[in-house]
This record gives sequence, C-alpha cells and structure tokens, in this order.
Amino acid sequence: MNQHINDISTIDREYVFHPSTHLGQFERGEIPNRIMTGGSGVYVSDREGKRSLDAFAGLYCVNIGYGRTEIADAIHAQAQQLAYYHSYVGHSNEQIIQLSRRIVEMAGMGMSKVYYGLSGSDANETNLKLVWYYNNVLGRPEKKKIISRQRGYHGSGLMTGSLTGLPTFHNAFDLPLGRVLHTACPHYWRNAEPGESERDYSRRLAAELDALIRAEGPETVAAFIGEPVLGTGGIIPPPEGYWEEIQKVLAAHDVLLIADEVVTAFGRTGKVFGSHTYGMRPDIITIAKGVTSAYLPLSGSIIGERVWKVLAEGNDKLGPIGHGWTYSGHPLCAAAANANLDIVEGEDLVGNARDAGAYFQQRLHDAFDDHPLVGEVRGVGLMAALEFGTGPDRKTQFDPNLKIGPKVSATALEEGMIARAMPHGDILGFAPPLVITRAEVDRIIELTTRAVDRVHAAL
Ligand SMILES: Cc1ncc(COP(=O)(O)O)c(C=O)c1O
Repeated sequence: MNQHINDISTIDREYVFHPSTHLGQFERGEIPNRIMTGGSGVYVSDREGKRSLDAFAGLYCVNIGYGRTEIADAIHAQAQQLAYYHSYVGHSNEQIIQLSRRIVEMAGMGMSKVYYGLSGSDANETNLKLVWYYNNVLGRPEKKKIISRQRGYHGSGLMTGSLTGLPTFHNAFDLPLGRVLHTACPHYWRNAEPGESERDYSRRLAAELDALIRAEGPETVAAFIGEPVLGTGGIIPPPEGYWEEIQKVLAAHDVLLIADEVVTAFGRTGKVFGSHTYGMRPDIITIAKGVTSAYLPLSGSIIGERVWKVLAEGNDKLGPIGHGWTYSGHPLCAAAANANLDIVEGEDLVGNARDAGAYFQQRLHDAFDDHPLVGEVRGVGLMAALEFGTGPDRKTQFDPNLKIGPKVSATALEEGMIARAMPHGDILGFAPPLVITRAEVDRIIELTTRAVDRVHAAL
C-alpha cells in the first residue's frame, strides 16, 4: 500500500475497481464515494454517520433487512463445524441437503433438484449450458438459440451479458455473442397502440415471438428466458395475460422456459415465487439474492423434472456432468440461506410483501398519479417504479442529458433515502426490504415526494 495515503476514502479511489462506476471520474474524485459501515432493519449507515432508509434493499436483495444476528450466528456455527467441503462426485453437507428440499418444496411447479452457484450471473450461465446439454442428449444439436427480451437483465457474464437486453451492458464489450435473440419488452404503457387492451397487447407480443421463432426455425430455438417482472430494465410488471400467451407459443415450438427469479423469488411479488404470481410453469428457475438476503453469496438453478430426466439420461450415455464450481453448495452460504428462510417463513415476510406491498402501491398511486413530472406509477408487491416524462401525457422522454432520474435519486439521498435511478430511461426504482412496516412506507412516500417536487421545481 502507498504509505503516504492513510485516508480510507482516498485509498478507495486509488485501489478499488468499482462496478457500474465512471472509472476516471471516480479515481479523480469527481463523483462521491460512500463507505458503508452498518445497518439495522431498513436503514443503512456510513462512516460519516449518515443514515439512509434503504428503499432498494441494497440491490433488491437484503430482504430480511440489515443487522439480523441470527444469520451471523448460523454462519458462525457452521464455520466452527465445517467451513467448506465441495459437492463434487456425490459429496454433500447437511445444510445444502436441507436447503435443497426446502427450495424445491417452496417452488412446487414440478421442480426436482437445485444446482448451486454464487451469483445470478453464474446461475444463468449454468442454465444455458444445461439447456444445450439437454438438446444434445435429445439428438437436437441445432436447437440452441436462446430468446430474451429487450430490457431484460440476466447478468454480466459473457452469455448472460448477451442475454441482457440493455445497451450499456453490451457497449464496447463485443456483446451480444451469437445464439442470443431479443424480443420485445412488454411495457404496455409505453408501447401499446392507442386503444389496444392489455390482453390484445399481450397477444400481439406473443404473435411477434411466434413469428421470430418461425423465422429462425423452431428446430434452432432452445429456450426463452424472462424475469416474471422486468427488474433492472425498469421494474415493469407484465401486462394482463402476457405469460399465458407467451407460454402457449413456447409450448407450440417445444421451447423451454427459464424464469429468472433472481429478484422475484422468496416473496418480493407477494407470493413465494414470481412464477406463482403470474401462472408461469417454468422448466428452470434462477434464484440468488433473496435466498440468503445477501448475507452471503448464493445462487441456484432449480431444475424441473422434465429437464432433469433428460440430463440424468444424458449422463448414462456421456458420463458425469462436466460442469462444476469450487463453491457449489458451500456450507456457509447454505447455512445463511437456511437461517434466512427461517426468518422469511417464521415472520411471514411473503405475507408482509403482499400487505405492506399493496399499501405501498396504493400510496404511490395516490401521491404521484397526477404529479406533473410522473408519467407512470407501476409495480407489484414490494417492487415499484416511477417513470418520469414530459408533455401532456408525460410520456415524452426528457433529454437524457438532463439526467432527471439520477437527479431525483440524488435528491432523495440528500433527503435520507436510497431509491435507485434505473440504468435505462428516467426511472426511479423501489424494492425495500420485505420487513418494511406501513410507517416506513409512509416515510418513503414523504421523502420521495420531497425529492420529486424539488427536481420538478428546479426544471
Ligand atoms: C433478474 C436478474 N438476473 C440475474 C442477475 C445477476 O445476478 P448477479 O449480479 O448476482 O450476477 C440479476 C442482478 O441484478 C438480476 O436482477
């Protein structure tokens, strides 16, 4: 370490490579840094002593809130007993065994087994490899293309960054790679034709998907991946009938469905899985974030019976599966997950996401439906967004240089609350911890109102 530097903030700028950060501006000290040191419930605090209501639960992951010592205790106890052993060639640990049964039972929907990773991105990479393996076993080597949506977010890896339908995750990285196709983002408010009903709009998108699959050749299309509710692309719940119509098309062409539930699993939409909320019948489900509330990293690919059978049959022909991570099924992460799910179930946080969530959505509509800066208020359960716009129906997008979304987010932070400026468009996102109370929801509304009014007044 450079001995001349002892200010921790300067050391941060000198040595840490931060994700999603303007690297030069950060290094030169032109944009703020914030060194987080603690948290309790829905609040986080930094080393300057500033406390913020975290209305985004970190990156929509700290579902049980900050500072739960039960998780620390569970990690500690497991670390004392056995900190690590791998799960290759049939090795296991009690934590991962209990966790797997629990997850499969919570999911239902014909799910069968869980494969573990450490991040949502690596879980989706696993899913793609398994889908390709599946079609090879079935003797369909051409059936390999994966369809995702514009504004979908599936991670930052090579293939998962390719699936992600947001230009900032492709630019100058030579992505997307081949085998990936993008179809329309189901945003009714912005993209429906005048007079088109939600159901008709969903049918139109399903017809577009059908045309895309036919044009590519159904024998070349392996899977469709989607978040039940689009998250990073702007927190966009599907229009009425969307998943029903999409699933009809997938079934007609024997295309697998991967539900990317990294954000939605374990309660966020008001049911345990987003797939439950929207009547999805996925073949594979991606989980991460909420499985441990991010107390330790853990992700999973939940594999449905239909895919599992083919994979197992493939191993009979080809030998053991050649896909493994050192940390797959890590006992400390699994201990954190079990303790986390004890809290989620013991405190009925799914029920709270439904109840406090309904209250939150109502209060957002009451406060912002007629606000002169807000075009759309949308959400489900404990995920929501305000989309800013101008013109008579506030649908016209602002000049991106005005940075309306980031300004509202920065102003909210000054007021004492973290809400995320979503990376695409002028959208303020909310996904508070699932432990949030109605009084804390009221506080979010109060602080958001102040921030939105201040930015509006300054325009
Ligand atoms: C739906 C979805 N899938 C995948 C990911 C990638 O997860 P990770 O950042 O853990 O790699 C995210 C992250 O936000 C996500 O929201």
